[in-house]
Amino acid sequence: MKIGNVEIKSVACLAPLAGITDKAFREVCRSFGAGYGETEMVSAKALSFNDKKSFSLMELSESEHPCGIQLFGNEPALMANAARLAKNEGADIIDINMGCPAPKIANNGTGSALMKNPELCREIVYAMKNAVDTPITVKIRKGFDEEHINAVEVAQACEEGGADAVIVHGRTRQQYYSGKCDLDIIKAVKNAVGIPVIGNGDVKDIKSAEKMLGYTGCDAVMVARAALGNPWVFRILNEYFQNGIITQPPGTEDKLRIMREHIELVCSYKGERMGMLQSRKQIAWYLKGFRGAAGFRDEAGRVATLDDMYRLIERVLEFQNC
Ligand SMILES: Cc1cc2nc3c(=O)[nH]c(=O)nc-3n(C[C@H](O)[C@H](O)[C@H](O)COP(=O)(O)O)c2cc1C
Repeated sequence: MKIGNVEIKSVACLAPLAGITDKAFREVCRSFGAGYGETEMVSAKALSFNDKKSFSLMELSESEHPCGIQLFGNEPALMANAARLAKNEGADIIDINMGCPAPKIANNGTGSALMKNPELCREIVYAMKNAVDTPITVKIRKGFDEEHINAVEVAQACEEGGADAVIVHGRTRQQYYSGKCDLDIIKAVKNAVGIPVIGNGDVKDIKSAEKMLGYTGCDAVMVARAALGNPWVFRILNEYFQNGIITQPPGTEDKLRIMREHIELVCSYKGERMGMLQSRKQIAWYLKGFRGAAGFRDEAGRVATLDDMYRLIERVLEFQNC
């Protein structure tokens, strides 16, 4: 798949997840073969105020390219300015958030609320395309609610504005992340636009990815929640779709080694104190499915240093073997 002039070499990509898809996690997922990853959403308005934290969300590492920076906002001029800043940070792709359901985002007319106004979506894409030569993508939902299912209309408006690809999450804003992902709407978008379509929603293994790709005809899939504590999902999907090989997840020791290296990377970027605080949930996700997981996950919620994590790993290992 090509998004503008950017070649994406794998059929499975990492979706943006606020508070989760930081530089370290994206690097880990890329190392397992994610086609590309995206930063969490960054506020165009906050960037216009020179907000330091927002700029830090856009920091990319050398090894993760191609990488997308996701922006949210509803003012074409501010979004165009934010696109220039994202380009300066080295974004290979700039994605527009048109799907976030959170009240503090949607009630401000941004995120999923943009889908209520396809003409504004078109204007925003157009303004950003005029500002940068970086490919622009949009990440939309099925619609705002069951009474307003307009993913096809919004995707077409964005294509007219110059979008280079569209990512479709097959749920409405009203559904948040519950209920079923509607593959028919992804198929309908694929049939209605000429740009690449990336399907998103509930892809977690070979079977669900195969269904998404086969049924909808989409060009690639985006994986979000299934990558948590499970970044090797990209290797499993790639091996299957590129080489026809079914691979198993790593064994116990390898899983724990991957977790350790991931969290060490987080700490190298954020410092040990902040890094460990932010990694507690990641550790808990990695420990899912282990023998004694409930207790260990509880402990993960209290780790404060890398040494705490090393000790936890030793105990988890001992417990698996006894
Ligand atoms: C905790 C969380 C944070 C998310 N943050 C973002 C975000 O910043 N930008 C975005 O476009 N989507 C965001 N999403 C939506 C996901 O990218 C994805 O569309 C959704 O989870 C469905 O995919 P999945 O079934 O593979 O999880 C978020 C979802 C979750 C659960």
